[in-house]
Amino acid sequence: MKPDISNKLSLSAKSMKKSAIREILKLIQNPKMISFAGGLPSPDSFPIEEIKEITSMVLETQGKSALQYGTTEGDNGLREMLLKRHRAQGLSVDHKNLSISTGSQQALDILSKIFIDRGDYIICGLPSYLGALSAFGAYGAKMKGIPFDDFGMRADELEKALKELEKGKNKVKFIYVIPDFQNPAGITMPESRRKEILEIASKYDLLIVEDSPYRDIRFEGLPQKLMYELDTEERVTTLFTFSKILAPGFRVAWILGNPQIIDKFLMAKQSADLCSSVLVQKIVAEYMRRGLLDLNLVNTISLYKKRRDHMLSCFEKFMPEGVKWTRPEGGLFLFITLPEYMNADDVFNLAVENNVAFVKGSVFYCDDCGKNTMRINFSYCDIETITKGVERLAKVIRLSMK
Ligand SMILES: Cc1ncc(COP(=O)(O)O)c(C=O)c1O
Repeated sequence: MKPDISNKLSLSAKSMKKSAIREILKLIQNPKMISFAGGLPSPDSFPIEEIKEITSMVLETQGKSALQYGTTEGDNGLREMLLKRHRAQGLSVDHKNLSISTGSQQALDILSKIFIDRGDYIICGLPSYLGALSAFGAYGAKMKGIPFDDFGMRADELEKALKELEKGKNKVKFIYVIPDFQNPAGITMPESRRKEILEIASKYDLLIVEDSPYRDIRFEGLPQKLMYELDTEERVTTLFTFSKILAPGFRVAWILGNPQIIDKFLMAKQSADLCSSVLVQKIVAEYMRRGLLDLNLVNTISLYKKRRDHMLSCFEKFMPEGVKWTRPEGGLFLFITLPEYMNADDVFNLAVENNVAFVKGSVFYCDDCGKNTMRINFSYCDIETITKGVERLAKVIRLSMK
């Protein structure tokens, strides 16, 4: 007799859903498809030759330790390089503030594990990164979404929501924000908004999870201080990753936070994977030591800026009246808002028939709204493909309009 697995699943597993984005990526594997859907870096930004050379050097000089288990907090050489980088940016950080993670996705999962009890509330943006919402949801969190204006999460709406949650005696654990080039909206929070949110977090005694995978990919404008830097009370834990600035295939990321949080994080990471890949951490450390990370970043930024500029000019040229989009100063995405009466689900089906794909914005809304929105990636396709793709997309949107 085969076991009835569904009867044995945990409550968490029962409530898990497949990621809408991963499902879309499977659906659009047709080679004729132009995909603006995934959050993929351009493979042209991957420094394959340098990594080949560094890998064999690491194996020659440190092979025995590189292929061994490592410490949970991460390779010391890499941690040193990261601390040096953050200190040069003006952050006051030490070893006790930092842990390596296996991708930022693991950090989101572990932070959920250590903070969320079933029924706790997490505050997130409307819209917000789907992978984070899934991680919080897997631990039984309820999500309260806060609407955005042009500067990100609205502070007045945040305070209103927290007052209501407090009245209902609900437990709120943390506020989840992506202040730089938000995924999916492409919006950057100015420092003034970051400070307002920090003040509210302090007033309601909440933690902040600042997710920052795109911060280094800035095309223009002035960098705004990290919430980690603005925080005077150690409420902020910040997540960084090499996925968008080097290679997502490495699965190396890191977090900065209050030592008490880092300590718990490490205990939870021990039961998740013991340690992140030592070989890969040593390769990344050597890559940084040679100063190649910043050199490569200059090329990546210039490549993505060209693609963003080109996409924006194609939007101007081809999109029908009534369609609006964000103009991100960096990152990988822009966000389209269709006229209110339209549904991006219908546009999506027609778009796939016409060999162009995007992610429906509604998947990023924890309150089932955003039906008339779409996330568009501009880092992956080359200039020629962007032109063709936007032309197709604009045609499909026009056909779907009344
Ligand atoms: C906001 C945000 N957080 C976390 C991640 C996960 O990154 P990683 O590849 O480091 O797991 C992503 C990936 O797209 C992201 O956009």
